[in-house]
Amino acid sequence: MDWGMKNRLSKLIQKDGHCFFLPIDHGYFQGPTRSLEEPAKTIKPLLPYCDALFVTRGVLRSCVEAVDSKPIILRVSGGTSMVGADLANEVITTSIEEIIRLNATAVGISVFIGSDYEKQTLQNLAELVNKCEGYGIPVMAVTAVGKEMEKREARYLALCCRIAAELGAKAVKTYWCEKDFDKVVKGCPVPVVMAGGPKCETELEVLEFVHDGMQKGAIGINLGRNVWQSPHPVAVAGALQAIIHERATVKKAHEIFNDIKNKK
Ligand code: 5RP
Repeated sequence: MDWGMKNRLSKLIQKDGHCFFLPIDHGYFQGPTRSLEEPAKTIKPLLPYCDALFVTRGVLRSCVEAVDSKPIILRVSGGTSMVGADLANEVITTSIEEIIRLNATAVGISVFIGSDYEKQTLQNLAELVNKCEGYGIPVMAVTAVGKEMEKREARYLALCCRIAAELGAKAVKTYWCEKDFDKVVKGCPVPVVMAGGPKCETELEVLEFVHDGMQKGAIGINLGRNVWQSPHPVAVAGALQAIIHERATVKKAHEIFNDIKNKK
């Protein structure tokens, strides 16, 4: 692997082989979603706990300090909205010049496998990899399901992850699933990072699924709403950080959650 690619990946995936990415890219199709109305305020107390931010260029320029920033994974696909015809109909939104100008550590792009736009979004991924490889910039593929959340089962997720890796993604972000998540990870030749999805009912549920996914081979998380839509976002972030980087049990992580929460 070339020095630049290796260097960028090492900023994202820590020495323990694990990572905690904080996505704040939701506005690119959801608008000012709850708790992300003012991204700068949302992320400020959470930054100490995460290893990188997943963000569009618009929010990056307007809400993230350029000095001493966390590594940036730039969201470079979009062009759809919650009220539009089909969330899958995405294009690449950001040029390679812009990716380099913003000094992105990596880029992220969604693929919608099984949708009417499967080929288009896979082509987006392949073209992005072609461009980014030339500059040593890793591509993270996001296996998106649009509004069809019931698609989140192992056979489908394994198919999506494998295809994304075959097309050249250096990491794949996918959903955790209760049954056979280990098979999803095993079938993917590049690291798998877990996304969160809509907010769980309790913080304990979040800690449980993240812990389970880590035991089954995921290298970390890219978790948004389950962190910053919680009434106690800093406590959730602290507890997740302990699972990801300190190998905390669910019990220990929940104690950390309660300790941080009760200190406030
Ligand atoms: C939005 C994304 C998000 O980065 C991803 O879904 C993770 O966020 P959440 O944990 O809130 O689902 O790709 O398109």
